[in-house]
Amino acid sequence: MSTPWTYRFAQRTKVVKSSIIRELLKLTQRPEVISFAGGLPAPELFPIQRFQEACQRVLAEKGCSALQYGTTEGHTQLREMIAQNMARYGIVAGVENVLITSGSQQALDLIGKLLVNPGDRLLVEAPTYLGALQAFDVYGAEYVSVPIDDDGLQTERLEEALRSGPKFMYILPNFQNPGGVTLSEGRRHELVLLAERYGIPIIEDDPYGQLRYEGEHLPPLIVVDRENLRRDDGYRLGNVIYLSTFSKTLAPGLRLGWIVAPPEVITKLVQLKQGADLHTSTFAQFVAYEVARDGFLDEHVRPIRQVYRQRRDAMLSALKEFFPPEVTWTHPAGGLFLWVNLPEGMECQALFEVALRENVAFVPGDCFYAGGNEGRRHMRLNFSNAPPEQIREGIRRLSVAVRSQLKRPELTAV
Ligand SMILES: Cc1ncc(COP(=O)(O)O)c(C=O)c1O
Repeated sequence: MSTPWTYRFAQRTKVVKSSIIRELLKLTQRPEVISFAGGLPAPELFPIQRFQEACQRVLAEKGCSALQYGTTEGHTQLREMIAQNMARYGIVAGVENVLITSGSQQALDLIGKLLVNPGDRLLVEAPTYLGALQAFDVYGAEYVSVPIDDDGLQTERLEEALRSGPKFMYILPNFQNPGGVTLSEGRRHELVLLAERYGIPIIEDDPYGQLRYEGEHLPPLIVVDRENLRRDDGYRLGNVIYLSTFSKTLAPGLRLGWIVAPPEVITKLVQLKQGADLHTSTFAQFVAYEVARDGFLDEHVRPIRQVYRQRRDAMLSALKEFFPPEVTWTHPAGGLFLWVNLPEGMECQALFEVALRENVAFVPGDCFYAGGNEGRRHMRLNFSNAPPEQIREGIRRLSVAVRSQLKRPELTAV
């Protein structure tokens, strides 16, 4: 429908669609539906009492600053704490390298604003995080995709894609959303070396790195880059911009994320962020600092890991128990998601409709691809937001939907 407003919408709005996941979440709100669709943390793990105390302390002791406008770069103590926490993972960044954003989602938007001209090609994983595609689409991005396997991005297929001259690579090394897979250490080195050789920078998006349930922590790309290239000459950050967030470790409602980048990038991002929101909520930043300080964040991540590991295991064993042998899935070592591969000929959108009738929901795989007809034989399942017994029941219901689709004649004929 055309109204006096719609025909005035800017050209760039033509590519914007509302997030399929948000639309799906609306459908899955019915209480009888077990939803594996959203990427929601377990709300019962939110440290509500600690937040209550922190809010009271912030208001009593720092109310005048916490309710005032703040600097665009963010609350200094919070940035210092982030820099110190990251140092334990080998990320060498000073406060001046850290910009607080309104969730990592804003970081992605600001990076789009900073780097993408209409028609610029970006290298993304196939599949990749839908929210990043949404953020970059608005700026007229085009894409070259490189597939992932159980060890993350297939670096042996990277060189050909790099020859097409992407402006940057957008990479999710840990417990990828949606694939659940982790980039192996060997591939991290190959990726960084190829990035250097072809002069193509990397945006490393790492919301889940701290949520590891098995195995050893692997060095972030920003660390591999620095070590490989021995950047110890004072220019401490090079080819990688690193993003992370408090959404999965404290609470997504805070809307607090951060960007780590070289100073010239931070300066420009600050200017762009001023136009977007002046700064991220001062109150949220003060409260997050009070909540997270004195080692609480580390303490709090432990029970999260324990609960999510149980839920992941519950989902893996229910899949094994109920799903037919034609279906396979990834084994995530951390994070919130696993990725299911459906047999040839099965369509995730049709399956989604049948699943909803069985009162269970997931995100159809085709949402996570930059182009073409890929992903139709996949679904993303979230395991963080339901207790183990509900996970088992949800997977049982989903298996009914899958088996009913398997019985369709065109499938059995394959
Ligand atoms: C890979 C990835 N990047 C960014 C985000 C956005 O997170 P935030 O809540 O910090 O905006 C998400 C959220 O699920 C995500 O999975």
